[in-house]
Amino acid sequence: MACGSARNGPKICLGLKIQPGYKQRVSILILGQGLLGKELVRQTGWDFLSRSRDQFDLTVPEHFARFLTPQSTSKTPRWTTVINCIAHTQTYSPERETHWAVNYQGVADLTDFCNEHEIKLVQISTDYVYANSSHPAAETDVPVHAQNWYSYTKLLGDSYVQLRSKNFLVIRTGHKPKPFPYPQAWTDQRGNFDYVDRIAALIVKAVTAQVQGVLNIGTEAKSIYDLAKQTQPTVLEGHRGPQVPADTTMELSRMAGIIKGNEE
Ligand SMILES: NC(=O)c1ccc[n+]([C@@H]2O[C@H](COP(=O)([O-])OP(=O)(O)OC[C@H]3O[C@@H](n4cnc5c(N)ncnc54)[C@H](OP(=O)(O)O)[C@@H]3O)[C@@H](O)[C@H]2O)c1
Repeated sequence: MACGSARNGPKICLGLKIQPGYKQRVSILILGQGLLGKELVRQTGWDFLSRSRDQFDLTVPEHFARFLTPQSTSKTPRWTTVINCIAHTQTYSPERETHWAVNYQGVADLTDFCNEHEIKLVQISTDYVYANSSHPAAETDVPVHAQNWYSYTKLLGDSYVQLRSKNFLVIRTGHKPKPFPYPQAWTDQRGNFDYVDRIAALIVKAVTAQVQGVLNIGTEAKSIYDLAKQTQPTVLEGHRGPQVPADTTMELSRMAGIIKGNEE
């Protein structure tokens, strides 16, 4: 279990404290109920919008005004922070259009909407934007994406947020379902990925600490096989295909500083 809470005390997630009353000061909305969005809601109880429950579609710009502002004459937004967990995640699909529409155009439109309504945008990105960078890649290093539309359009989305947003946090990370769901795991892919509960807890920390800019989030470097063994001891050794990046390790000192600051 990643999180627990003492009566009237701060909620504890992996040793990271979330102060009581935080929800009253900053109202947070999660977009998307995939693997990560669901886990963030499970850990925090923050509001969410999804395609499956609400028919919210990131590629329909009219939906921002319809879903993200009150159904009244007031233009005041309901939420002060939006965490975008929506993406087209068919990582190795050769199809360009949906990746472009969701991961770039949708993120650009959301950025413009958030600016107009003074909402902070937390954009969830991926460690795959560093697939061909020097490793471990820091936030200040040149992100050189993998050779697929997914990571190319995720990097375009990051770039638009960095260029245009007035108040943002771009989080580059990698998270996996728990327990590891496959019979084989790659021994030759390394990164700072971890199970979704651990990564979500770190994201909650960064959001509640009101961090801004670009932030790499992860845990110790390891192979997917090492990670898989933690929850599935009988998992077999496998090898990645040529399209899968061998190394997406990131430099995590900014994240470590944020955690240390909170613990002092
Ligand atoms: N999983 C990983 O290993 C990983 C690694 C690094 C970074 N990331 C990033 O982390 C974020 C969350 O990923 P995840 O693992 O939660 O992925 P996921 O399980 O595939 O969830 C993505 C969600 O986006 C929704 N979606 C897609 N297109 C949409 C649209 N046009 N309008 C509204 N909703 C739409 C999907 O809705 P439906 O349920 O209706 O299809 C789905 O719930 C993404 O930004 C991803 O790029 C993921």
